[in-house]
Amino acid sequence: MIRFSVNGESIQYDGPGDTPLLWVLRDQLGLTGAKYGCGIGVCGACMIHLDGRALTACTLPVSAATGRQVTTIEGLSEDGSHPVQQAWRELDVPQCGYCQPGHIMAVASFLETHPAPTDETINANITNLCRCGTYVRVRKAIHRAAEIREESRES
Ligand code: FES
Ligand code: FES
Repeated sequence: MIRFSVNGESIQYDGPGDTPLLWVLRDQLGLTGAKYGCGIGVCGACMIHLDGRALTACTLPVSAATGRQVTTIEGLSEDGSHPVQQAWRELDVPQCGYCQPGHIMAVASFLETHPAPTDETINANITNLCRCGTYVRVRKAIHRAAEIREESRES
């Protein structure tokens, strides 16, 4: 039995430990926000947080989550009020939307360590792929999310 937490809820998974976490989230728990894209840890569509750090759930065996806290896009905030979600809405970032949960999870984690990012640090760290080419809006929204985050700290 593998025990871990997902979005604050205790989970027990009785199955093979090498099952990718993505399938446990999507198929067993019905959390379909994290998407399947490449399956090899390259596109970022499946990004979740493990103890606050963004990782690709398609390459992470569920056993690696033992005793740890998983957060999915569904649990990033209760009401879509996370600074990254606010900035994404403000700048109308998504096109088809498929890559966006992964992008948002990557950026939310990135801003914790880069609260005032430059274009260079964004380009070096946010490598999620988007078939619709929303990269320019994504970069603008990252800067906006950093501002919103800062504003909310000051108030
Ligand atoms: S589906 Fe996981 S990185 Fe592409
Ligand atoms: S918005 Fe369509 S893949 Fe990124």
